[in-house]
Amino acid sequence: MPRVLTGITPSGTLHIGNYFGAMRPAIELQAGGDAYYFIADYHSMTVLTDPAGRRAYTRGIALDWLACGLDPAKAVFWVQSDVPEVCELTWLIGSLTPMGLLERAHSYKDKLAKGIAPNFGLFAYPVLMAADILLYNTHVVPVGKDQKQHLEMTRDIAIKFNLTYGECLVVPEERIADDVAVIPGLDGQKMSKSYGNTIEIFGDEKALRKKIMGLVMDSRTPQEPKPDADKNLAVQLLKLVAPADVAADYENRLRAGGLGYGDLKKGLFEHYWNHFAPYRTRRAELVGNPDYVDQVLRDGAGRARAVAAQTLARVRTACGIR
Ligand code: TYM
Repeated sequence: MPRVLTGITPSGTLHIGNYFGAMRPAIELQAGGDAYYFIADYHSMTVLTDPAGRRAYTRGIALDWLACGLDPAKAVFWVQSDVPEVCELTWLIGSLTPMGLLERAHSYKDKLAKGIAPNFGLFAYPVLMAADILLYNTHVVPVGKDQKQHLEMTRDIAIKFNLTYGECLVVPEERIADDVAVIPGLDGQKMSKSYGNTIEIFGDEKALRKKIMGLVMDSRTPQEPKPDADKNLAVQLLKLVAPADVAADYENRLRAGGLGYGDLKKGLFEHYWNHFAPYRTRRAELVGNPDYVDQVLRDGAGRARAVAAQTLARVRTACGIR
C-alpha cells in the first residue's frame, strides 16, 4: 500500500488554493489507510518571526484539516516540530546536497528577486522538505504545482544518498492533478498567502462576499456574447465549488450573452459559501473541543515519531554514525 504524505506551512490562513490543490486530494487518499499529514511549523520559521502568530496559525490549520475531513482514524496527523528527528535527517542529507541544486530552487530565486535578504533557512528549505518526506518512507506526495520542483529535488537527494550509502531511502513521487495544479487567486495569478489574493476556506461572510463581488471583470455589457467564457476567473472558480452541471450552465449563459458579471459573481459567492458550510459547522464544534484536537495531535506525533526513529536508525547505520 503506497504511503501518502503532505504538509502545509502555518504562515497564514488557509485558502481554497491550499484546499483544492493539496487538502482535498490528501483527504481523498486517506481512505487507502496509510496517510501521513502534518503542519510544517519549522518551515514557517523562514517567513514568520511572530511567535504568537505561529502558534495561532498552527492551531488554526489543525482545526481546518480536521474540519475539512481529515480523519485521525485513517491518517496520522501531527505538528512537524513534535518529531525533531527531522532536523537530524536534514543535516545528514544536507551534507550531500549540492549547492547548485539549492541555488536553482524557484522559491529561493523568487525571494531573492523580490529583494528579501536570504538566510540559511530560506536556502536550506528544500532540504528540510526532503527530510519531511524521506523520514516517513513516503511513496506519494499530493501537492500543488508550485511544489513540483521541491519533489524533484527530494528525489535527487534520495537517489544520491542511496548511491553513496546504500539503498536506505524510499524515492517518492509527486501527485499533482492537472485541474487543480494552480488555483487562481482574486487577481488571476496563482492564489497565494504572499500575494494577498486569497479566498479563505473559513472566514467572515461579509468580508468574503466583498472579496468575491470585487473580482475585476472586463467592460463588456451583459448582453454581449463571450466566446472566451471558459477563461473567465469567476467561471473557473465556480467549477471548483459548484456541481458540474450548475457551473456549465453559468458558463454557457455567459458565452451566449445575457448573464451579467454581477449575477455570475453572486452565484459564485453562494456556491462557495454553501460548499464549505458543513466544514464550517464542524470547525465550530472543534473550536469548542480543544482537548480532542490536542489528543489527536499528540497521538499523531507519537505514531509519526515511531516511524521516524526507525528510519533514522537505518540512515545512521548506513552512514556510519555509531
Ligand atoms: P504551502 O503551505 O505553501 O502550501 C500547502 C499546499 O497547498 C498547495 N497550494 C496550491 N495548490 C494549487 N493552487 C494554489 N494556488 C496553491 N497554493 C498552495 C501547495 O502546492 C501545497 O501542496 N513547503 C510546503 C509545505 C511542506 C510540504 C512538505 C509539502 C513542507 N514539507 C512535505 C509536502 C511534503 C509549503 O510551503 O506549502
